[in-house]
Amino acid sequence: MARDDHKAPKALGERLAATRAQTFALAAPLSDADAAIQPFPDASPAKWHLAHTTWFFETFLLRDHVAGYRLFDERFAFLFNSYYEGEGARHPRPKRGMISRPSLDEIRGYRAYVDEALERALPSLSEAALELVEIGINHEQQHQELFLTDILATFAENPLEPAYGHCEEPKATRQSSDDETGLLRSARNDGWVQGTTGVVEIGASDDGFAFDSERPRHRVFLEPHAIAGRKVTNREWAQFIKDGGYSTPTLWLSEGWDWVQREAITAPLYWRDDESEFTLGGRRAIDWTAPVAHVSYFEADAFARWAGARLPTEPEWENFAASADPNLGNQLDQAGAVAPRPGGGPFGDVWEWTASAFASYPGFAPAEGAVGEYNGKFMSGQMVLRGASCATPRGHSRASYRNFFPPSARWQFTGLRLARGA
Ligand SMILES: [Fe+2]
Repeated sequence: MARDDHKAPKALGERLAATRAQTFALAAPLSDADAAIQPFPDASPAKWHLAHTTWFFETFLLRDHVAGYRLFDERFAFLFNSYYEGEGARHPRPKRGMISRPSLDEIRGYRAYVDEALERALPSLSEAALELVEIGINHEQQHQELFLTDILATFAENPLEPAYGHCEEPKATRQSSDDETGLLRSARNDGWVQGTTGVVEIGASDDGFAFDSERPRHRVFLEPHAIAGRKVTNREWAQFIKDGGYSTPTLWLSEGWDWVQREAITAPLYWRDDESEFTLGGRRAIDWTAPVAHVSYFEADAFARWAGARLPTEPEWENFAASADPNLGNQLDQAGAVAPRPGGGPFGDVWEWTASAFASYPGFAPAEGAVGEYNGKFMSGQMVLRGASCATPRGHSRASYRNFFPPSARWQFTGLRLARGA
């Protein structure tokens, strides 16, 4: 098979159709009211995700590359442009939840209109336009994950605790005694993987799709280190709480301690007082053996310090995960409720915070054109997460993938794995 066969119009068209259908299916359980709520300014209504991903294709592909294409509604650019300064004025992000119209059904109509135009255009698109289809697919996959985490945040606000879908019941719902703690056991002997020491290469090669921020591939030097063979679990997090983790200022970065105090943070975002947590499957008992999720960078960093370890750097993580298959693990296969499960590898369940700030690699060049605003302009005040989560569409992740969020964000499926000098 030729290297670029995955980009041939047919395969690309099939992937495009499957991605668009998956987003459509994600909205199936929602009422118009569910889809209009914005639980907080950084999250977006489900309806907005449906429309914004469509606007992305309509603007950068159909409008710019298909002669004679007519916009579905020229007012939509103002509503559904996210952050592209090059595309002009837009509706303020914190007010996305105020848009009760167009209705969910009208947005579905918008999607169908753009889908038909994409299907018609695909056979005759230029190479440059086909690249935009690929970016559009990956962009929409990112929004599928945000769709799920934003609807989780939305339903978590509702005292009736509605379930988005059905989730498998966890198996280990009772806390065991301290001597069963994997972390303490592994800190002594097993569970640590010796990392490579010396010069290694990280970043995406020139083959295949990757976001601009993953390139160029380049050399870095790794000091002797070890990295935990698994992610930190809910049980270990409960011990951190029991040991006063959230009330010991010396464990925290200054900004993190301010945040803990100001927001009165005492546990992961969706934990409740009775050893239960709120999930996309509704409220259920915490699975103590599953990886901890919905913790911020500040919390992950404090936990690592408490455990006598630290977070891995990006190069350490990428070198560790380079030989793992990014298509394996608990990732999103079809629309429905998802939750982290015990026993997974580096890809799936929860994204892993790293100790690295989101910054450009040596020789970084933003993508050409309007999509040049995609990543580069966010390289300030964000920390990198690696891997993939249970809400990441399978096929979207790779070892060089750089997810990023501000250090206090925790509504994504975010957890951690420990590292240490060795
Ligand atoms: Fe977007």
